[in-house]
Amino acid sequence: HSSVTGQQPVSCSATKAPEALHTYDGKQAPEVARPLTKEDIARILNDYENAARNALQSGFDGVQIHAANGYLIDEFLRDGTNHRSDEYGGSPENRIRFLREVTERVIATIGADKTSVRLSPNGDTQGCIDSHPEQVFVPAAKLLNDLDIAFLELREPGPNGTFGKTDQPKLHGPIREVFRKPLVLNQDYTREEAIETVATGVADAIAFGRPFLANPDLVRRLEDNLPQNKDDIRTWYSQGAEGYTDYPLAR
Ligand SMILES: Cc1cc2nc3c(=O)[nH]c(=O)nc-3n(C[C@H](O)[C@H](O)[C@H](O)COP(=O)(O)O)c2cc1C
Repeated sequence: HSSVTGQQPVSCSATKAPEALHTYDGKQAPEVARPLTKEDIARILNDYENAARNALQSGFDGVQIHAANGYLIDEFLRDGTNHRSDEYGGSPENRIRFLREVTERVIATIGADKTSVRLSPNGDTQGCIDSHPEQVFVPAAKLLNDLDIAFLELREPGPNGTFGKTDQPKLHGPIREVFRKPLVLNQDYTREEAIETVATGVADAIAFGRPFLANPDLVRRLEDNLPQNKDDIRTWYSQGAEGYTDYPLAR
């Protein structure tokens, strides 16, 4: 949002988010994005390279490329937000091109074994949705397999999701057939469902979002099967300690 960055937002195409956005001045109406030019894309690939290098220099073990949830790469992937007529739009192969270029650049910078990707194939996130997700996300996962990334994470809301829901089917089944490296799944998993999902080989690991936000000692609580704090939606985007560092530890 321009109140945060001082600039018109950019996207794949001239689209607008569907709902008011969090800014430092409270929620504000979304703005129409400026479609990226080829020069912008070249500059942004450099940004990814710099960010990956900086992360490793700062002591991180690796990076996860955010290609999910209606953010920039996802806007290229899905036909609801990609209206381009150049080589970055149209066919699934073209819509995957930006993801491929970013991933190749990050791999060239820090190595495939330190590079992961996050996708959200099904459902609508922030106005970003595809009409036939399997046609673009299964080939995207195959490409990431061939690039030999460290792991792939999928954020998949279900029909009864508590943070976004959708009737578009989850795609982890067909994606696992083409992506042979570790697969991590996310959204709405309880401890029991996570154990079951990994034990039956559906996934290699489960990622937790809101439980981690509300439980600073989530790992110990999962290990010892202790009760968990419930996250408080009213403090998700607060700007101080409240909701950020004041969730209690288990006794
Ligand atoms: C306050 C908040 C902010 C989030 N921000 C992002 C984000 O910037 N990018 C992203 O991919 N997911 C974001 N998520 C989604 C989480 O990564 C996760 O996918 C979601 O909470 C579902 O997992 P869960 O059911 O374990 O909470 C956010 C979630 C919350 C609660």
